[in-house]
Amino acid sequence: MSSAHYQALEPQTSDEDNEDIERRSHHPRCTATASAPSSMVRKGGVGRRRCLLPLVGGALCFIAFCYLTLSGETRSALGLGGSTEDSEEESHHGLGKQQVQLMETQPADFDASRLQEFVENYEGNTTEITQETELYESEFKIELPKVKKKFRRRHRFNSKLHSIHFRPLNESLHICSENLEDHRQFLQDKPRSDYGQLPVIYFVTPTYPRREQIPELTRLAHTLLHIPRLHWLVADDQEKCNNFIDTLLNRFGIPFTHLMSPMPSKFRNEKPAPRGVANRRAALQYLRQHNLTNGVLYFGDDDNTYDLQLFSEIRNTQRVSMFPVGLIADYGVSGPVVRKGKVVAFLDSWVAGRRWPVDMAGFAVNLEYMAQYPYVNMPYKPGYEEDLFLRSIGLKMDMIEPRGNNCTDILVWHTQTKSKKLGMIRLESKYLDDRSNLGALLLNLKLMGVASTTENEGRNALISKNGKEKPHSIILS
Ligand code: UGA
Ligand code: MN
Repeated sequence: MSSAHYQALEPQTSDEDNEDIERRSHHPRCTATASAPSSMVRKGGVGRRRCLLPLVGGALCFIAFCYLTLSGETRSALGLGGSTEDSEEESHHGLGKQQVQLMETQPADFDASRLQEFVENYEGNTTEITQETELYESEFKIELPKVKKKFRRRHRFNSKLHSIHFRPLNESLHICSENLEDHRQFLQDKPRSDYGQLPVIYFVTPTYPRREQIPELTRLAHTLLHIPRLHWLVADDQEKCNNFIDTLLNRFGIPFTHLMSPMPSKFRNEKPAPRGVANRRAALQYLRQHNLTNGVLYFGDDDNTYDLQLFSEIRNTQRVSMFPVGLIADYGVSGPVVRKGKVVAFLDSWVAGRRWPVDMAGFAVNLEYMAQYPYVNMPYKPGYEEDLFLRSIGLKMDMIEPRGNNCTDILVWHTQTKSKKLGMIRLESKYLDDRSNLGALLLNLKLMGVASTTENEGRNALISKNGKEKPHSIILS
């Protein structure tokens, strides 16, 4: 999706952001420096606050001040030039004092022009600029003295805990196959046409080749078969398209897109590796490229267990909905703490500085809301994927919509399948013809990545009759 599209959208920001936006667009002194286009003024949805408090003037000036500070100092801090205080030598390198140290932590592929572009073209709300500042600030240990205090107070960001590998969404996106037609006639005992008006759920499933992949996808498909108005984005973490998966997905009749999106090789041997990140990023890119701004996004791993009720609950997500996930870590659960119908905190046995300590399966996002955030991202940062994704879309506590009876029901379970090595079956290839079923069966198992047949490795294939092992030649010749 083009950035022009994002600008054209009318964002549904939080009340706080909206106040910022309205203040800016109404205050004559500040429109010159921090003006927002009038289209940024939210209509309907969350209720407009026209009554400006005396604080508004001060807040407005602070925003303008932050903007100016970021334009100057952030650029200077990142060595992007424009700072009159740089010495000649420093200017030569485009670096200020802090930047000499900073460059040591800066990854080779860091694209500084993205930040410069962002700051220069900044037209959004303060949440966006705050997020961006924080992400870069933590990644490169950038000191932003004048704005730091305010941002730190708002978000208590611990840069030591969050050495974020932030990069723009630029996954290699390859569509293996796609079928957007819904071939199912009846869903939950009703004809498909009965569901025509429902918002579409974009169910994003990262998956990867291992012995359990096909069984996991088969089980998940049989859950999704019951769900109307669902587009299944199956994003496979591998280098080439698996035709077996295409065939499998086509059989179900659920609208699907099969993407191929391998994890970048440099992360492959990391422990822990960022699992399912490249794939989810590819799916985000797909949504953006196809301008899909209606409906609801849900990240549904291939090994979880989903209650059908979950889908009814998330379908009407206005911005971000949340709900508990069962079988997570030590407590056997992770999810929001709700008081008087509002999410106020989180219960999860691993906090580690995460502002949003939730599981990937514990939230859903409205696509129109997400489209307001062109820097939506899921960095390659194991354990922090959910937190950083939710931060990249400007989430605030008061936006969260609790689901599942005010977060008392468990509608999704973090089940895990025991993984085993590829099976090895030792059998001479001369017996893998059509004289028996074994040729076709073992070929299928090979294509599914479950077992491979070898001539001379592993244990001899045990073939028995009447409780006794028989030579291959007797049964298969
Ligand atoms: C937990 C969370 O539920 C995941 O959403 C999160 O991505 C993961 O931790 C993490 O942070 O690493 P967990 O059960 O521990 O999940 O992880 P997996 O189920 O092994 O992987 C999560 C998803 O990524 C699965 O759908 C899996 O198929 C996929 N994956 C895993 C890959 O695409 N590539 C891999 O190399 C490994
Ligand atoms: Mn899992």
